Amino acid sequence: MIGCMIVIHSVMANETSTRTRESFNQEWLFERFGPMPDGSNKPEPGIALYGVDLNDSAWRKLDVPHDWGIEGPFRDDLDNNTGKLPWKGIGWYRKHFSLADVDKGKRIFIDFDGAMANAKVWLNGEYVGTWPFGYNSFRLELTPFVKFDAKNVLAVQLDTTQWGSRWYPGAGIYRNVWLVKTAPVHVGHWGVTVTTPSVTDASAEAKLAVNVDNQGGQEIKVSVAVNILEAGSDGVAGKIVAASSVVEKQIATGATSIFDLVATVTQPKRWDIMSPNRYVARVSVKVGDKTVDVVDQVFGFRTIECTPRDGFKLNGRRVELYGTCNHHDLGALGAAFNTRAMERQLEILKEMGNNAFRTSHNPPAPELVELCDRMGIVMMVEAFDCWKGGKTANDYSRLFDEWHAKDLKAMVRRDRNNPCVFMWSIGNEIREQKGPEMAKMLRDIVNAEDPTRPVIAGCNSAGAGYNGFQHAVDVFGLNYNLGHYSKFLNYAGNEKRPVLSSESSSCISSRGEYFFPINRGTDSRVNFQVSSYDVDAPGWACPPDDEFAALDKNRAFMGEFVWTGFDYMGEPTPYNSDVSNLLNFSDPVKKEAMRKELEALGKLKVPSASSYFGILDLCGFKKDRFYSYQARWRPEFPMAHIFPHWNWSERVGQVTPVHVYTSGDEAELFLNGKSFGRKQKQQFEYRLRWDDVVYAPGELMVVAYKKGKEWATDKVKTTGEAKKILLAVDRDKIKADGLDLAFVTVTIADKNGLLVPRSHNLVKFTIAAPGEIVAVGNGDAASHEPFQAKQRKAFNGLCQVIVKAKAGQTGKMVLKAESEGLENAEIVISGR
Ligand code: GAL
Repeated sequence: MIGCMIVIHSVMANETSTRTRESFNQEWLFERFGPMPDGSNKPEPGIALYGVDLNDSAWRKLDVPHDWGIEGPFRDDLDNNTGKLPWKGIGWYRKHFSLADVDKGKRIFIDFDGAMANAKVWLNGEYVGTWPFGYNSFRLELTPFVKFDAKNVLAVQLDTTQWGSRWYPGAGIYRNVWLVKTAPVHVGHWGVTVTTPSVTDASAEAKLAVNVDNQGGQEIKVSVAVNILEAGSDGVAGKIVAASSVVEKQIATGATSIFDLVATVTQPKRWDIMSPNRYVARVSVKVGDKTVDVVDQVFGFRTIECTPRDGFKLNGRRVELYGTCNHHDLGALGAAFNTRAMERQLEILKEMGNNAFRTSHNPPAPELVELCDRMGIVMMVEAFDCWKGGKTANDYSRLFDEWHAKDLKAMVRRDRNNPCVFMWSIGNEIREQKGPEMAKMLRDIVNAEDPTRPVIAGCNSAGAGYNGFQHAVDVFGLNYNLGHYSKFLNYAGNEKRPVLSSESSSCISSRGEYFFPINRGTDSRVNFQVSSYDVDAPGWACPPDDEFAALDKNRAFMGEFVWTGFDYMGEPTPYNSDVSNLLNFSDPVKKEAMRKELEALGKLKVPSASSYFGILDLCGFKKDRFYSYQARWRPEFPMAHIFPHWNWSERVGQVTPVHVYTSGDEAELFLNGKSFGRKQKQQFEYRLRWDDVVYAPGELMVVAYKKGKEWATDKVKTTGEAKKILLAVDRDKIKADGLDLAFVTVTIADKNGLLVPRSHNLVKFTIAAPGEIVAVGNGDAASHEPFQAKQRKAFNGLCQVIVKAKAGQTGKMVLKAESEGLENAEIVISGR
């Protein structure tokens, strides 16, 4: 600091700066090398693919976000755990662009929100920089290499052959890219940090630390101030409610100075999961009378507290964490980020009562954090799936020594102003749980960047709760290990350690599949599907019911993060590694064929490519489990859910158990009007079971009661044959910006419009301009049908088509669905 003085006058709200931030997503050229989708190998040519004069006219034109892996095809020889998709490869992206003379003298930066993986960047043939970890956002400065008198050529090489993952990571420039231009004196990258040290109903302080970079040629006097404005639900600034004083400092050339500002807001509207109010800190940087930079930083006022024995407190009141863990892919869209697809997922999770999100096991897209801010969902943002000890060949362990500090800092700096972020996770089930040393080192890095939020690590080794590791973190995250809940709480020395279930349940099921008898393990696993009675889970895991009981018996736990909200590509447990899976076919002919093939090849060919863990399937269709969580997480919402479906022509006269999830406390079951009696949930019981129902076709109905009063009903009927297609869309008006999406649910129905449970009809889609089919899916984890197609087989009565309107082309789009032997259907969606 060279000099500092405070001048009392406030910044005007309408000041304009020279800063611009434009989307850099359009018009890239792409070429793939190394391992190719068809299994062949195409070596990189012996010429510099970043060269200015390279002839790239034949390269494929595309916009990012782009995931080359999800384009397929699925291949039998590829690893189940990473989705059987050809994501391994070397991808080159090139972009030609011009800069206008008005930009001369500005500093020019490129921001990647995420690029998978091992990004190397060149501009005009010159090497600019690298960021290997595919999940973090990073900025590179282009200024020294830009041209104003000719086209610029940006080249990006991504190499996923040098990346290892336990799930499908995607591949490519799979998040947004931005071009940022600033004056030489400007707010640095992620340069505004807002903390809110005192928040009361009467007033709240916003304390800002603003990094200002002087990239100009001389030492200069700079003044910085902030206005606080109310933010609309979209984060856009409204009226000014507070202002800071102006702080002046000299900044040497090439130096960065930190400006400390304070503004006090009276009667602050808090950010809360019930009312996600936010504010904008509009930071203004002046040189003399000239405003050289204005940065809007969204933030919120809320208090968080993780207590050792009284749970998580948001704004002073206990909030149970009803959380889900989620990987980053968006089902049929792959890893390519899309804001609407993410928003839809969060809407579905909220409908279930989910109020917390864990970005397992890596930093998220920035738009996801913004959505959680806007929608009132608290977030545990996670850094790593491994530290120095690796889990798969070529994973982050290879980068750890050189990159862990840079990666942790990038994660925290980007998201530390977001009120939804309530906790940083330094790792998931990392190998180093034997003692506190490495955890402490990493926690210190995070705490130095953000002393306002606790640090957690998700531990699968219960021993970490007793060996000192638990004190190297602010909150102990226990994954699974129900048997250790009370032991942890009662262990001498742990009295002051807050704890939560950072990963729970890992129940497995396939939407609409039911196998008999209801048993965990083999009986539940047929045809590469898993029974939806919600009792099956791998050895370390448990059905939701057991987790609920453990939490109810150990109220000091702050809550849970279920593995997982949505199914994801890869990790198709239980069909990922066990050779006996191979003979899982129920069809004896297929089974025999597989046995012979296995004998001949001596190798494994399990079709499963995506997970069975999701509460929602890969399309976001609800599995029965959705209602188990809704019943618990939204106790005041009247609901009952009865399962299985009631089309069991082969089971007439056989015992066919009926289960019910309800937010009520009692229920009565009727089959064709005959009562099977009223049952009451007992202590630590979370579903009602009628395990002795003998199947007869007809109507099954449940009437649920709460405190003696009728509360909710549900029914399921035996259907007729498949006769027609029904189409329903989540939103029939979408933006014609080439990004917004409409998700169409395709139902195979009988003549009365009832979903035919075990139908698998192939449905073909057409859409008229300006519509475009983006992807299709059906939630079948064992399907190898391509996502990028215009047809899809239904899986147990449902499939999905995702459509968009071409950018700038408004109008009505008619989507038609046809299937042999069925009445066709169409639906109109407007692009505006
Ligand atoms: C956990 C792990 C997750 C996932 C899950 C499946 O141990 O943290 O990434 O693998 O198991 O049950």
